[in-house]
Amino acid sequence: MQSGTETYLTYCIPTRYMTSGQTIRFEDLTQDNWDEFDDTVMGSEEDSFPENIMWEEEDFMEYISRPDCIAKALVSGEYYLGNVIGYPLTEEDIADQRLEGMVTTDKTIHLINIVVEHSTRMRGYGRMLLEEFIRCAKQQGYRRLVGNFRPNGSLHLIKSMGAKELRMHKDWEGTDEDYISCELEL
Ligand SMILES: CC(C)(COP(=O)(O)OP(=O)(O)OC[C@H]1O[C@@H](n2cnc3c(N)ncnc32)[C@H](O)[C@@H]1OP(=O)(O)O)[C@@H](O)C(=O)NCCC(=O)NCCS
Repeated sequence: MQSGTETYLTYCIPTRYMTSGQTIRFEDLTQDNWDEFDDTVMGSEEDSFPENIMWEEEDFMEYISRPDCIAKALVSGEYYLGNVIGYPLTEEDIADQRLEGMVTTDKTIHLINIVVEHSTRMRGYGRMLLEEFIRCAKQQGYRRLVGNFRPNGSLHLIKSMGAKELRMHKDWEGTDEDYISCELEL
């Protein structure tokens, strides 16, 4: 993923790559390798979320630099397919999602970002990312996952793993979309 060509390649090549036996792997997304991913991660973020809730590069840096953050990129050969990010749920997060009395911070991981690159959706990569996130969270001793999901696939995905709906947020952050807070026992 060298400068200049990565956006073109990422958006054009994955289909061919998926059928050519390339190894698909997870990489930790860190401050040190952010330069390899920044263009594609930011491109996917722009494709995926309305401007008012879209993360800026600084947001990614803030989260992936936390030592307690789980941040994974899914990669095929040289090409970025998607990412998943989470960190321990905080009281502030609980207040933001108005989940007081419904969840606790105890051994609870907060899934805050899951995105699959637009041209490679619906091929199971979202599920792979979520499964890897859960595997890492369990390994670190978490017992629950909490997150805010959209009725665009991410809700279907988390519920297919057994998550229960906690609360619906009408027109979340002015997006014209209803988001649903969910909890999954790990
Ligand atoms: C949500 C997202 C990560 C799913 O990634 P994906 O690679 O397309 O998902 P998968 O191919 O692994 O599909 C997983 C399941 O979700 C379903 N699904 C995926 N997208 C869907 C959609 N838009 N509508 C309905 N169901 C959908 C699939 O059919 C599949 O169901 P099944 O396993 O029961 O057959 C991807 O659509 C995305 O990046 N969306 C934009 C970013 C976003 O909204 N992130 C979530 C923020 S809360």
